[in-house]
Amino acid sequence: MRTIAVLNQKGGVGKTTTVANTAAALAAMGAKVVAIDLDPQAHLTIHLGLEPQTRESGSYEVLIRQAKFEEQILLVRMNLWLLPANINLVGAESELVSIVGRETILREAVQSSEDRFDYCLIDCPPSLGLLTLNALAAAEEVLIPLQPHFLGLQGFGKLLQTVELVNKRINPNLKVKGILLCMFDSRASLPNEVKADIEQFLNNARGTDSAWAQAEILPVCIRKNIKLAEAPSYGKTIFEYEQDCHGAEDYRRVAELIQDMAPTSGTPDQEAPPIEIKSIPQPDSEAPASQFTQPISAPEEQETPDLS
Ligand SMILES: Nc1ncnc2c1ncn2[C@@H]1O[C@H](COP(=O)(O)OP(=O)(O)OP(=O)(O)O)[C@@H](O)[C@H]1O
Ligand SMILES: [Mg+2]
Repeated sequence: MRTIAVLNQKGGVGKTTTVANTAAALAAMGAKVVAIDLDPQAHLTIHLGLEPQTRESGSYEVLIRQAKFEEQILLVRMNLWLLPANINLVGAESELVSIVGRETILREAVQSSEDRFDYCLIDCPPSLGLLTLNALAAAEEVLIPLQPHFLGLQGFGKLLQTVELVNKRINPNLKVKGILLCMFDSRASLPNEVKADIEQFLNNARGTDSAWAQAEILPVCIRKNIKLAEAPSYGKTIFEYEQDCHGAEDYRRVAELIQDMAPTSGTPDQEAPPIEIKSIPQPDSEAPASQFTQPISAPEEQETPDLS
């Protein structure tokens, strides 16, 4: 199983959109995928059509109540499982503080199911606290969605430092694999300048032992596309909402690229050729979240966790 944490402590850069649609595209290609909602806002859970407020199962129960991962995940589409977030997750950061081994709870839980899935995609909250740390301890690969404007790069250094710290102290397998430019508008000149800056920065790390020495800007950008912003309010992935739009095209490509990327460690990648995604059958008749639930308020921005 390849475990990929989709991470950026900046809010609203496209993390959840990337997890929901990449997971759906990989699942439609025939891979077994489990997506984890580690964000108390529960946007991934809502995006996939579930109501977070009423759920008794999910990532909180795994992290704090020692519930079994296998028993908390739900089949939400063909080949796609979700460990949902529920309202309890809002308190998880502070509850984790007093638990011994608090950084590696998710890793241990996920490892128990690694033979069952080809991919595990983790949607991180917009902070660098203990929830994110659990994602980084569990993952081998980090995918960073980034908005290519000047402010989008603010905090990028701190993000990489955090990955580096986790790599050195908790999880030597952890590497930044890709940077995905989201909400890209190629007509503006600034995105291309920001892209060139990141490329330069990454090139400087080539051949070093840093956790981002192999990172690359993915050769597909997620274009600005209103359909991507509309789909979550119907509890649909982009392939269910508007399968021929730019957003669907771009995320299909991201899934193909991820499938083609060599995994960082151990397990060989599956060889199934990508197939075209037309529609994704839904095994349960969960109604679309048209009664769009109010997002649970975001956690306070957190400092980089103390890993000493
Ligand atoms: N390519 C795109 N074009 C247009 N809108 C987009 C695109 N990608 C994402 N959006 C919209 O932008 C908003 C932020 O995206 P998303 O929720 O994926 O970001 P996030 O990084 O997960 O945010 P948070 O940090 O709050 O969890 C959402 O309303 C989403 O629907
Ligand atoms: Mg999100």
